[in-house]
Amino acid sequence: MVSEIRKVCVIGAGTMGTGIAAQVANAGDHVLLLDIAGDDANRNGPAERGLERIVKSDPPLLMKPENADRISVGNISDHLGAVSECDWIVEAIVERLDIKRRLYRDLLPNLKEGALVSSNTSTIPISLLMEDMPHELRQRFSITHFFNPVRYMRLLELVEGPDTQPEVMALLADYCDRKLGKGVVRCADTPGFLGNRVGVYAMQKAIHEAMALGIDIEDADAIFGRPMGIPKTGAFGLYDLIGLDLMADVVRSLRSILPQGDPFHEVGAENALVNSQVEKGYTGNKGGKGGFYTRQDGKAMAIDLATGQWRERKKDLPGIAIAGEREGLGALIAGDDRLSEFAWRVLSGILTYSASLVPEVTHSPQDIDDAMKLGYNWIRGPFEMIDEIGTDAFVARLEADGQHVPEFLREAAGEPFYRVNGSSLEVRHWGGEYAPVALPEGAVRFHMLRRTLKPVVENDSASLFHIDGGVRLVEFHSKANALDDKSMEIVMAAAQDPGPGIIVHNDGQHFSAGVNLERFKAFIEAEDWEGIDVFLAGFQDAVEAQLYCNAPVVGAPSGLALGGGFEVLAHCDLVIAHANTVMGLVEAMVGVVPAGGGVKETYLRWFRRTGDWEKAAWNTFNQIGYGKTGSSPDLAAELAYFEPGRDGQVMNRDRLVEASLAALAKSREGYRPRARPEFELAGGEVYAAMRKFLQDGRASGKFLDHDVVVASEIARIVTGGEGAAKAQVGERDMYRYEREAFLRLARTPETLARIAGMLSGKPVRN
Ligand code: NAI
Repeated sequence: MVSEIRKVCVIGAGTMGTGIAAQVANAGDHVLLLDIAGDDANRNGPAERGLERIVKSDPPLLMKPENADRISVGNISDHLGAVSECDWIVEAIVERLDIKRRLYRDLLPNLKEGALVSSNTSTIPISLLMEDMPHELRQRFSITHFFNPVRYMRLLELVEGPDTQPEVMALLADYCDRKLGKGVVRCADTPGFLGNRVGVYAMQKAIHEAMALGIDIEDADAIFGRPMGIPKTGAFGLYDLIGLDLMADVVRSLRSILPQGDPFHEVGAENALVNSQVEKGYTGNKGGKGGFYTRQDGKAMAIDLATGQWRERKKDLPGIAIAGEREGLGALIAGDDRLSEFAWRVLSGILTYSASLVPEVTHSPQDIDDAMKLGYNWIRGPFEMIDEIGTDAFVARLEADGQHVPEFLREAAGEPFYRVNGSSLEVRHWGGEYAPVALPEGAVRFHMLRRTLKPVVENDSASLFHIDGGVRLVEFHSKANALDDKSMEIVMAAAQDPGPGIIVHNDGQHFSAGVNLERFKAFIEAEDWEGIDVFLAGFQDAVEAQLYCNAPVVGAPSGLALGGGFEVLAHCDLVIAHANTVMGLVEAMVGVVPAGGGVKETYLRWFRRTGDWEKAAWNTFNQIGYGKTGSSPDLAAELAYFEPGRDGQVMNRDRLVEASLAALAKSREGYRPRARPEFELAGGEVYAAMRKFLQDGRASGKFLDHDVVVASEIARIVTGGEGAAKAQVGERDMYRYEREAFLRLARTPETLARIAGMLSGKPVRN
């Protein structure tokens, strides 16, 4: 067997093959992307078109455009010989057993000795794929089942065959974890593996019950969505996102491979409405016409399940969805109305279905929970949901309802599936034994680790923990991780007693997309300008204390780190970012300027890069004015929001804590906080030039009136404003300029309109 994976070949340049190839290139390795041969004019046409789709993809599959240089293309008729250079060959061609088998036969004489081969099949059992393979290849063959889009979906299901060597599985698991950033879940060779087995069942169950109970699709998605910790697309919205035609195929294929008697069949029959929508061309978002939802004449529309006709989409969420989001699952299923009945039927269906998969499909509920969290972006897995309801209460309700109680659930009654034992989080396996939750060496999922820790200080918005060796960990956990004064109290508490160092990290979907705008809106509506100033000064004091405290501070973000979220990172000694982190200062969109030190730090970084305050002023003015963000650390580096060399990135978000601890250990020796910088304001001439730029842009229609007002304030912070001399100022002055600019803008009705618009989901352009 090869000892490491350095060059990869992906065969099949469709949806999945391109995604896998792009992620290998993101990981820094070379990849050969092959498809069938095109016509004589361009034999590599199919693979070349795949590469083009990679380059043009949105959201981007590449972390920076240059990564495409690591992908070479070819065709299987002319270039199969080149496979001999590759350590791992991933097959991602059409889902047809005969075609896949023929490909493996053709591959065989071309393989490098010891090369690994895997299939990305979603439905074909490995036993069938391997049937006529020579033993030698059977030992190195497996299924690596990625999820779409590969860069963003964390789950990788890994399935071994009867002869696959353990070292093969270990090498693939390690490569996919560290290099490709995946959460690897080992699965048995059972239909749909884990993610789709439960995920597709869950969607089908929601759709089936909505139809049976006559629930409007908006209500169904509002319930089978955020309140259950499921992405807000729900079931109907997810159908639109994936494509009604593709989903219909997936359902048919699961139906054909799942055994008789599997509860999937109760919800997986042909759906006349889905089929008729597909026939009419409503295949979902990709078709441009919509599927279950659409827009007509500027109006949002939804399909009426009873009539199949379009009607206007309801705007308001049903009360139980709101209560469920606030109070948890119990509130969702407590009532005796139709919507509560829907919530109960769907939830109980999913949870009992999941429990029925133990022990046949897996012995550990953690596998199922991980698959749903990593592959479907659920906040909690099914067994974590059962724990929230309580195994006892859940079983009692099932019994009262006359529903079947799976053995694994009955056996657990009274005991939770997860429990904390000393400093370890344990999970109950088939047979009743508890074992520590399984994660690869060094991996940390903070939402799990936190259950074994007691916060040193905490409030509704954030907590402070002591982890390894007393290292402080600041965790934001307010709704959507919007920052408020309580979040900043915890930042301050850590800075005042930093121990051997601080990590600012959380395991939420987003590190933080910024300050809580509701707060600003309330301040502005109450004309409480003093309140705003106190809030901003408190924010600045906290990040300043963090930056100058007597121990190193590492920011470890994933997801969005925008606005105030980014300002917290800008006041860390260094950042270890997940490779999909989006960073930037977007305050201008809501009519304000960054006033948590964001303008100041951007200005300073550009000065340090260019040695020229005037250039630094222009760059700061431009990028904050346009609200630019970098959708990966590599792209954020172009905006000086990330400093390669000082900052680091990791492909797997489960490894952020590990990498941050290592970075802290390295910076601790002889640590001194940075020296207080001096700033030079770029002066009135630069201000005048910026104003002219804005006025020209306004005259040509490029900017709106309030864009000019907001950008002028950014200009004023870095230049000193009209007629100002180039002056030396201190850091505290810069903080003050930011606050003053913010307050001037907060007093304008246009800024209030932008904030209100953003909060209601209808951004205002004024
Ligand atoms: P696709 O239809 O987008 O792409 C398949 C590609 O394979 C096409 O470019 C086709 O020209 C090429 N191809 C067909 N026969 C070939 C051959 N003999 N040699 C070389 N190339 C050949 O399909 P998609 O969606 O990318 O699926 C690929 C595999 O991944 C399938 O096994 C599917 O079940 C699996 N899968 C699909 C997922 C999805 O969301 N689309 C998710 C996970 C797995």
